[in-house]
Amino acid sequence: MSIQIVSLRAMEILDSRGNPTLRAYIALNNGVTASASVPSGASTGENEAVELRDGNKTRYRGQGVLKAVENVNQVIAPQLIGQNPTHQAEIDRLLINLDGTPNKGKLGANAILGVSMAVARAAALSCGLPLYAYLGGPGAVRLPMPQMNVINGGKHADNSIDLQEFMIMPIGAPTFREALRFCSETFHALKAILKKKGYATSVGDEGGFAPDLKSNHEACEVILDAIAAAGYQPGRHLAIALDPAASSFFTEGLYNLSKSGQGKKTSRQMIDLYKDWVDKYPILSIEDGLAENDWQGFKDLTSALGNKIQIVGDDLYVTNTRFIARGIAEKATNAVLIKLNQIGTVTETMEAIHLCRQAGWSFVISHRSGETEDPFIADFAVAMGGGQLKSGSVCRSERIAKYNRLLEIETELGPAAVFSNPFS
Ligand code: PGA
Ligand code: ZN
Repeated sequence: MSIQIVSLRAMEILDSRGNPTLRAYIALNNGVTASASVPSGASTGENEAVELRDGNKTRYRGQGVLKAVENVNQVIAPQLIGQNPTHQAEIDRLLINLDGTPNKGKLGANAILGVSMAVARAAALSCGLPLYAYLGGPGAVRLPMPQMNVINGGKHADNSIDLQEFMIMPIGAPTFREALRFCSETFHALKAILKKKGYATSVGDEGGFAPDLKSNHEACEVILDAIAAAGYQPGRHLAIALDPAASSFFTEGLYNLSKSGQGKKTSRQMIDLYKDWVDKYPILSIEDGLAENDWQGFKDLTSALGNKIQIVGDDLYVTNTRFIARGIAEKATNAVLIKLNQIGTVTETMEAIHLCRQAGWSFVISHRSGETEDPFIADFAVAMGGGQLKSGSVCRSERIAKYNRLLEIETELGPAAVFSNPFS
């Protein structure tokens, strides 16, 4: 008898910020059981698939996900019971059609993604394969280059930094294990430097420090100091990646750097600012340097800096092939940020990555600022051939769960493991 789904249900759990999110549970007729948990963003793109929230102000400030849970239990489960979980694309298509809206607003992308991920996991277990090997095949041996968020600002921290994320990339590391060590040592050196300068060493949502630095500049300076203090060479062993998440400070047609008091800037002035920084600092990647509807700005930014560094679109594309195809046609960036919950199914996320590959673009698989202990994206990154992975800094268990899973995968692959380094 072929393998079949015999039970599917969901429950409301909490994410790393203490907000409700959804976990889906699946059982098969061969005794296999699996679960998957859905992350949740704060600086969300306006075209993201809909995260269904109850809106009932008497529970979790309206943030409950009981409707999404009910959609899994009452609407999705009856359709999926009896289906073969190894038919991922077919099941995801069924989920998309069952919802019937362009943005998964009826059933909720949280309901749909939880099911989609749980199906993949159950199928992998049924095949006796780790998730990365099931989704990626025998060629899935590449570990991703991490982009580790060590200083948090923007919407992720209450401080005077406008840019949301200052990340380090261990571009000189020979293996993933070593990459993680480079980052951890730099993170701890950074802590000591911040402490010495009298800054707070408490961390933001993604585990990066959230010091009340005087400027966005100072964030780059302290990171360079930390890289050196840890015994590494900036630009050789570790480089900087930025995610300004510029949509979050774009108001009335201008970029308002209000947290640092730098005032309002036009798109052109922002590009000049980035050019200046790229000259000054070893910055190799800028994600969402401009706002999600500033396509012209992105094109100008890419023509100004795209031959030197990676220009990544996150809110601009929301992991949606429709927007990515436009970006490729218009040369709006040269890389894409990939978040499963922006689009809502495993299959559509794989299609987005496929499009990047076809265009010769790089891709960065990413967590959300609200995460869970589910390490799905670690396996997913290896399955997709490495690329780069954003999973926060080297602290907070919901972030480390992904890095630890990658250590496991690297060990399991043994000598076959390859560390993906698009910057070498
Ligand atoms: P978010 O931020 O998860 O809060 O949306 C992450 C990002 O912008 O990359
Ligand atoms: Zn982003």
